[in-house]
Amino acid sequence: DEKLKQVTDICKKYDQEQLLDAYKRIKDEKEKQEFLDKILTIDFKKINQLYNDTKKEKDFNEQNVKPISYVDKSKLTKEQYEKYYKIGEKTIKEGKLAVVTMAGGQGTRLGHNGPKGTYDLGLDSHKSIFEILTDTLKEAREKYKVDIPWYIMTSEENNDATVKFFKEHNFFGYPQNCVSFFKQGRLPMVDTNGKILVDEKGNIKEAADGHGGIFSSLLKDGVLYDMKARNIEWVFIGGVDNVLVKPVDPVLIGISIEKHVLAAGKSIIKASPTEKVGVFCKHNGKPSVVEYTEISPKMAEEKNQEGELKYGESHILCNQFNIKAIEQIGKQQLPYHKAFKKANYTDKSGNVVIADKPNAYKFEAFLFDAFESLDDIVVMRVKREDEFAPVKNKEGVDSPETARKLYIDFHNKERKL
Ligand code: UTP
Repeated sequence: DEKLKQVTDICKKYDQEQLLDAYKRIKDEKEKQEFLDKILTIDFKKINQLYNDTKKEKDFNEQNVKPISYVDKSKLTKEQYEKYYKIGEKTIKEGKLAVVTMAGGQGTRLGHNGPKGTYDLGLDSHKSIFEILTDTLKEAREKYKVDIPWYIMTSEENNDATVKFFKEHNFFGYPQNCVSFFKQGRLPMVDTNGKILVDEKGNIKEAADGHGGIFSSLLKDGVLYDMKARNIEWVFIGGVDNVLVKPVDPVLIGISIEKHVLAAGKSIIKASPTEKVGVFCKHNGKPSVVEYTEISPKMAEEKNQEGELKYGESHILCNQFNIKAIEQIGKQQLPYHKAFKKANYTDKSGNVVIADKPNAYKFEAFLFDAFESLDDIVVMRVKREDEFAPVKNKEGVDSPETARKLYIDFHNKERKL
């Protein structure tokens, strides 16, 4: 009774009484208690604030955006390359590198039934994306003669299926004690009136809190503690859906150490001013990524003295952070961005509504917003054909077909060398 009173007061205070109706519909006593407990974990003030923010235009001032300097990996002198390589190689061989793969996304555009990493890329070998990623880590393990811990971020929705897939395939031959899974955080979804939704089963409707949720999840789930216990100093963080990702890169580590920065990101040249990618920049003097929706066509077309795009270093979600930076960022709250999505839900009268068009907001943090809390980062330009083969859409650009071709071309080129 005490708990119910507390929950009733909270729901009334924050104008979320539809949750009390949902509570009344639950028959099972244990489930009733669980529902109340869940409500008590929600930060209603924050959710209401996030909803109110959906109505505000983002205050973005182009004046505060400036180009950022970068290092072109292919243009390093032999001496520079060898110096950075040696520093990074030593760090890797000392077991100070860990890899995190973010695999908590919904992969809605690909439309695969299951976690994106389980998708068969359509190679003759029929390897899944997860197996392709494991191959890269196995190769690095052989090369540097060291175990590289691999942490895979999943979501509430796909964690069990992901773990099951790895177990069924015996971790594709990677040492099992080097692979761990952790779940990213979630936030309630709200309708266009700011009401928290109840899902088809009568629970609070939640969605993953975006790839920027990784930092707080690393802290919350004890992963950072585990990394520290293993003497990890550098962590490569990448998405699950780039089948040419090179997570073990001594040059990237070497430059970061030499330039005394706590983070680095790989970039590729933006294909054209209109390509729909975010680009590295300086925002209010801090390293950042500006999205293609945020810069004007004029700014997107600006060129420097060398005739290159001023804002031409595309962010490809291949970043590396020092453990100190992860700890610092994980304690802060990155800003949330709204996404308007289709969400099935149970209405006030208890009827399940199947959404056929976007009807609800989910809130996501973006990993690259973390750069702004650092004074400087290294941006290292790499070759698109060597390091970027994304699997995003079912067909057309960035699809399995394009990624498969890039993957095959890269490996044929490697074989010939
Ligand atoms: P995307 O932004 O491409 O999203 O994620 P997605 O969920 O994979 O695909 P769509 O937009 O629904 O089609 C880029 C990377 O970030 C991870 C994804 O798994 C992917 O590796 N990600 C994204 C998370 O781990 N968690 C999230 O909440 C969002």
